[in-house]
Amino acid sequence: MSNRLIIFDTTLRDGEQSPGASMTRDEKLRIAKALERMKVDVIEAGFPIASPDDFRGVQLVAKNVKHSTVCGLARAIDKDIDTAAEALKPATSSRIHTFIATSPIHMREKLHLEPEQVLEQAVHAVKRARQYTDNVEFSPEDAGRSELDFLCRVIEAVIDAGATTVNIPDTVGYNLPSQFGELIRQLRERVPNSDKAIFSVHCHNDLGLAVANSLSAVLNGARQVECTINGLGERAGNAALEEIVMTVRTRQDMFPCDIGLNTQEILHCSRLVSTITGFPVQPNKAIVGANAFAHESGIHQDGVLKSRETYEIMRAQDVGWHANRMVLGKHSGRNAFRSRLLELGYAFEREEDLNAAFSRFKDLADKKHEIYDEDIQALVSETIQEAADERIKLVSMKVCCETGEIPDAMVTLLVDGEEKHANSIGSGPVDATFRAIELIVNSGSDLQLYSVNNITTGTDAQGEVTVRIDKGGRIVNGQGSDTDIVIASAKAYINAINKILEPIERAHPQV
Ligand code: KIV
Ligand code: ZN
Repeated sequence: MSNRLIIFDTTLRDGEQSPGASMTRDEKLRIAKALERMKVDVIEAGFPIASPDDFRGVQLVAKNVKHSTVCGLARAIDKDIDTAAEALKPATSSRIHTFIATSPIHMREKLHLEPEQVLEQAVHAVKRARQYTDNVEFSPEDAGRSELDFLCRVIEAVIDAGATTVNIPDTVGYNLPSQFGELIRQLRERVPNSDKAIFSVHCHNDLGLAVANSLSAVLNGARQVECTINGLGERAGNAALEEIVMTVRTRQDMFPCDIGLNTQEILHCSRLVSTITGFPVQPNKAIVGANAFAHESGIHQDGVLKSRETYEIMRAQDVGWHANRMVLGKHSGRNAFRSRLLELGYAFEREEDLNAAFSRFKDLADKKHEIYDEDIQALVSETIQEAADERIKLVSMKVCCETGEIPDAMVTLLVDGEEKHANSIGSGPVDATFRAIELIVNSGSDLQLYSVNNITTGTDAQGEVTVRIDKGGRIVNGQGSDTDIVIASAKAYINAINKILEPIERAHPQV
């Protein structure tokens, strides 16, 4: 058995299934490029049949990613598989991932199929996918609650049909680590042709056990782990990539596996995903939380100063902390800016976008002494938003706040090219601003979440605002950043409204 542990990232597919985490095509491409830079082996870029937009998203990633395998998800249905193959055509290396549920409850209640029909459909799907590529993954959905004998039969049959990876999902996050590890061991032992495929795992975090279950599977011979940045994903999420990778790297005594990943890119990917989705990372989150390497108590600080290993089991630099602190300032030129962008993985194709980003940078440098990588990331997000030709744009705003007075906001927006004004009072400056915007756009959406984070430290730092709005059950996030948090809030709200105004119908793979 090979000791290479394949890292399969599904942030762009299962991660995006998280309510409110939907991403635009350009956002997906930015994340895919960051994952490629981190040397992820396989990037699951989406579910191409879900909508024309999902199709184009997978196609865009397939066109632009050269060093990771790009994967598309397909139910065990001909048109799903054909569509995935079409979207993946431009890829240098591609994989089709097809799946069908095998647990009694899913077969009976969801699929209304007999087990024999499921087995037949699984084999047919794998054979069809093999007509397009030699790299085919099959998942028996809800394997964690499937009957072992039936699961063994399905796996043997799909390997015979040409599946090169067999992925065992704990779809509902029900398994315990010892049980899930044992399942992988049994499958590898009992399926006669198990040595002809790589065993993979895909664990959900409903009981907080996704990482533990995945690692237990690795100890029992799984050689691919499916995971997401920051553990993003359906319901309580998927196994967190950063935790899996750093556990294997830190505990090589227990996991004699090689991982090809550049761990120094972990923090950058984590921040990018958090910014784009608007899902903040909790401070005490392992590896990527703000406190993950902070030593508050005197005893700990003393120990770490004397010898780092007293309290630290990994080096903060190895996951990207403090790695990119190089600052730019007012006097930095266009070339320094461009090369920093390239180092951070951003290359604008159109010169005018680079110019727009540079002019934003100069504006920011006038307000803020030192510009950090995080500022540049926020600035790139805004430039991309602007280039996306949004229907509604902020022209100007004025907000009056005074002790004992009711805040009042005056807003001017460009709506489909026409300038519109409104003013409103509110309980605070942000409330007044959102009300004024709503008077113009009349979106009829409900605000579900409003959060502000400082991008860097200091009172001159930019504030990054995330809003989540809901309209008729469709949930989207918007982001905005500025050194003035009321302006950042207006930008975020407008960004969310622009997204909600685009009618996108998409199918969910597991419904
Ligand atoms: O959770 C799950 O079972 C899935 C499959 C499509 C692999 O996401
Ligand atoms: Zn899943």
